Amino acid sequence: MTKHPADLPQTCLVAHAGGTGLTDLQLAQTPLRAPGEGEVLLELLRMTINPADLLLLEGRYGQKPPAPFTPGAEGVGRVLAVGAGVSGLAPGDLAMPVPTGNWRSHRVLKAPFVVPLPADADLDQAAMLKANPATALVMLEELVSLSPGDWVVMNAGNSALGQNVLRLAATMGVNIAAIVRRDSAAALPRSLGAAAVLVDDGTGPAPALPDGAQARLALDAVGGDATERLGAMVADGGTVVTYGLLSGAAPRLSAHDLVFRGLSLRGFWLADWFANTPPERIRALFARLTDHLAKGVIGARVEARFALTDLHAAVESAAREGREGKILLTGGGV
Ligand SMILES: NC(=O)c1ccc[n+]([C@@H]2O[C@H](COP(=O)([O-])OP(=O)(O)OC[C@H]3O[C@@H](n4cnc5c(N)ncnc54)[C@H](OP(=O)(O)O)[C@@H]3O)[C@@H](O)[C@H]2O)c1
Repeated sequence: MTKHPADLPQTCLVAHAGGTGLTDLQLAQTPLRAPGEGEVLLELLRMTINPADLLLLEGRYGQKPPAPFTPGAEGVGRVLAVGAGVSGLAPGDLAMPVPTGNWRSHRVLKAPFVVPLPADADLDQAAMLKANPATALVMLEELVSLSPGDWVVMNAGNSALGQNVLRLAATMGVNIAAIVRRDSAAALPRSLGAAAVLVDDGTGPAPALPDGAQARLALDAVGGDATERLGAMVADGGTVVTYGLLSGAAPRLSAHDLVFRGLSLRGFWLADWFANTPPERIRALFARLTDHLAKGVIGARVEARFALTDLHAAVESAAREGREGKILLTGGGV
């Protein structure tokens, strides 16, 4: 049943960032309007803090929105009310907001930008659906043609992205070699079926795949030396894809690997993929991911949840090295 506007909250809490650093962030109480025709009012229940959000706060991301802006690429919410003409979404439904700007308690969106989710979906995992599982799936399926038994090597192998790569690769029969930078991070990729887990803090000799195996694809979230070390594990003619800026250093391959072994180095950005992919294929991707979510195929570990009102502590925690999972923001009292 659609709530009468008088029953709806009249204000909401919204984060405003300046884009000059992690602490350039404020929470403000702002007026909240009822959804108009074709619109949906969501109460945000969980919002992710991802590395991309931190880059955005620091002014280092691929997009630089004018300040002040509301960060938060991902979230999940409960529909509080729908405007006239909205079908397929009703008050009480669990749903994912597609646009960014989710570090807030409520938001009004046009209905096509709200994806309904299974009623019993795990809130934490639903909040983390849009970025990492989608990136993992597209990178595994669209960058090179992989067959069962092929090897893929990735660094940041314990990251949320890495966990989703491992889970999805298991459904494809593809072997994943997961590189982590500390011993204590090795158990997680191992538990998710990594064919090899290599601990490499970048100081010793570059690691190698077991039994002389070579990867067809390398997934690089780190850059700098780490990219070159991945290249050494890739077969002649293989592809190294940089998709993250974790070290801040420019990715590079050795001239030998580029010239004499025919390796390719390219980038991948999901935002760019969304911008260049027909809407029906994007819908199909989310339909598959929603199904994977319901079946527990995708997922990532969560370290801690902070109330939206505790935003500064949450961001500080998300920026720490050696976390044991994602930091999430909570709203709606859940
Ligand atoms: N291009 C795209 O479209 C796209 C989409 C989604 C994600 N990403 C990128 O994917 C990467 C992983 O994201 P996530 O959300 O999965 O991360 P996450 O779960 O928050 O985990 C962060 C990971 O980065 C590692 N790390 C941090 N700084 C590092 C450094 N200097 N050198 C090596 N490893 C470092 C951490 O290792 P410890 O645990 O040892 O600290 C951890 O494995 C990020 O770079 C993110 O921006 C890109």
